[in-house]
Amino acid sequence: MRNFNENTITDAVLERIAGATDQRIKQVSEALVRHLHAFVREVRPTQKEWEYGIDFLTRTGHMCDDKRQEFILLSDALGVSMLVDAINHPVPEGATETTVLGPFFVQASPEKDNGADISGPKEGDPMLVTGSVSTVDGRPLAGAVVDVWHSDDDGYYDVQQLDKIGDLAMRARFHTDQNGRFNFWSIKPAAYPIPHDGTVGDMLAVQGRHPWRPAHVHFMISAPGFEQLVTHVFVAGDQYLDSDVVFGVKDSLIREFVRCPPGRAPDGRMVDSEYYHLNYDFGLKQVASNARAA
Ligand SMILES: [Fe+2]
Repeated sequence: MRNFNENTITDAVLERIAGATDQRIKQVSEALVRHLHAFVREVRPTQKEWEYGIDFLTRTGHMCDDKRQEFILLSDALGVSMLVDAINHPVPEGATETTVLGPFFVQASPEKDNGADISGPKEGDPMLVTGSVSTVDGRPLAGAVVDVWHSDDDGYYDVQQLDKIGDLAMRARFHTDQNGRFNFWSIKPAAYPIPHDGTVGDMLAVQGRHPWRPAHVHFMISAPGFEQLVTHVFVAGDQYLDSDVVFGVKDSLIREFVRCPPGRAPDGRMVDSEYYHLNYDFGLKQVASNARAA
């Protein structure tokens, strides 16, 4: 076949990939071609606009390295990350809702004991975080791995300022105790704009959007036999809760970071200044095969 035109090119491409032996590859490829061609027919880009699109994606790729993931930001800012999350994580009663991973997770997070202060060299309003991890029916999960990470009070993560602070901070990996509980100290995070000096920032600007996320603490919680939970807890009252640039806010994930006077904190520590206290009790969902066996 040859001499394709606007009306025949889509079927020609679909026909060309009809022989794919992996059915999932075939399904994804066909949908990609149908939707991409439909998009081009609707938008009717000029040659120059097509070149801009190619250049935009090329620049997005060039911005990516082991510290910066512009494609995840693009996915987040277009709502695709939350759509994938919603499709993959229906939440049963008692399980904590999920939200985006975001671009600042670090695989090799430092292991810390419960009660540790993870603020490193950063200063800010002291924050005590206490919490528990349990099954959806309230059975405490001992030994669950709790990864936490958050921004400083200027809205920057450690990986954005390693040249200044020298090492990872405001992130750590804890294990729940025999009662399924964990606790640590840090500083209260602030709202922050996602990195907007790249292609995603350009896109937000021309779309008339701000780049801000409401203040939050990230949690990734794992326990054998349970689905890994990736979520945040947001600071109640933040001005960006209704316009989070990555569409990640859910009511069940908003908590008061309670302002407390100096004195003995709930973990027994004596504190000589005001501090904030966040408590959140997480519920993990069993993996499907486990649920069937149970
Ligand atoms: Fe974040």
